[in-house]
Amino acid sequence: MAGNSIGTIFKLTTFGESHGEALGGIIDGCPAGIELDFDAIQNEMQRRKPGQSAIVTQRKEEDEVKFLSGIFEGKTTGTPIGFIIENTNQKSDDYSHIKYTYRPSHADYVYEKKYGIRDYRGGGRSSARETVSRVVAGAIAKQVIPDVKINAFVSSVGEIFIDKPYQELDFSLTETNAVRCPDVVTAQKMEEHIKEIKKQGDTIGGTITCVIQNVPIGLGEPVFDKLHAELGKAMLSINAVHGFEYGSGFCGARMKGSEHNDLFNEDGTTKTNLSGGIQGGISNGMDIYFRVTFKPVATLLQQQEVLTNENKLIIQQGKGRHDACVVPRAVPIVEAMAALVIADYYLLNKLYQ
Ligand SMILES: Cc1cc2nc3c(=O)[nH]c(=O)nc-3n(C[C@H](O)[C@H](O)[C@H](O)COP(=O)(O)O)c2cc1C
Repeated sequence: MAGNSIGTIFKLTTFGESHGEALGGIIDGCPAGIELDFDAIQNEMQRRKPGQSAIVTQRKEEDEVKFLSGIFEGKTTGTPIGFIIENTNQKSDDYSHIKYTYRPSHADYVYEKKYGIRDYRGGGRSSARETVSRVVAGAIAKQVIPDVKINAFVSSVGEIFIDKPYQELDFSLTETNAVRCPDVVTAQKMEEHIKEIKKQGDTIGGTITCVIQNVPIGLGEPVFDKLHAELGKAMLSINAVHGFEYGSGFCGARMKGSEHNDLFNEDGTTKTNLSGGIQGGISNGMDIYFRVTFKPVATLLQQQEVLTNENKLIIQQGKGRHDACVVPRAVPIVEAMAALVIADYYLLNKLYQ
């Protein structure tokens, strides 16, 4: 299996499966001498962790990270940072029903066809449990670029969405509710909707908006490694993500150039920011903002038609501990992936400036 690494200088490789001994990662290229804030790393893990509220999966994992290398007396040494997170709450029997069947729209079928073997327990390597390693690395990446502020939040769940621009939101309210939506009135509606969907044994999609502030001018390596291309790749690598748009995004297609152009101020900032802080693949110093859409995840706690490994269609009852809506838990994952990209491009920019 290829494709387990991301980044050029600040490079993360992850390993592990949902029901294996442990998951973990190796970070190559982290600068030496950074005094790590371990509480901040653990705090990010708490935000991602299952079982944190009534609207997410009730799998109970401690998700404590154990560092194996690359850190001495609390500081990074510049050598590879190795870490693991042990799996402590697997219930592999929950998955025995999918040993010989493939869930529609999950990764079961393609993994088996591609590799000829599949760890069906919890989805194996295709499980979003893998993202625990991304969150550890992202929390370290945030500490490489302490001046950059990254705030992600849930902006829609199903048909319910925040109806105001991000500039009118107070990001300090994001963590005050289980949905992670800074508009608390909308958050309440979202929470009720997720609970209703969960009661039906169904799932629902949603959107996360991410705002990155205080990014220096000049990050991004045209032509193939444009900043928005790398952010898009990072976001689309997250499980269940189906869409990425930055700045005006798909709405830009409905506008005229005279409406869309971001006119300059004399200091080089722009009066509007439909470019989303990136022009020509390079950050222009304005806020970078983008939206990531998540599909309603595949595992339903309902009866559904599934395919068997003998090519028969049968009706199967879904079971196990699953998320009815993943966006609340995906907020720290989106932030982590954004931090990995920005930290990597910050280090690259130092090389090629
Ligand atoms: C935080 C998070 C939690 C997830 N939890 C579940 C889950 O409980 N059940 C499920 O079927 N899929 C879940 N997923 C999505 C699957 O991992 C994903 O749909 C699957 O690997 C197939 O990949 P794809 O949807 O990207 O094509 C979750 C995704 C995220 C980001």
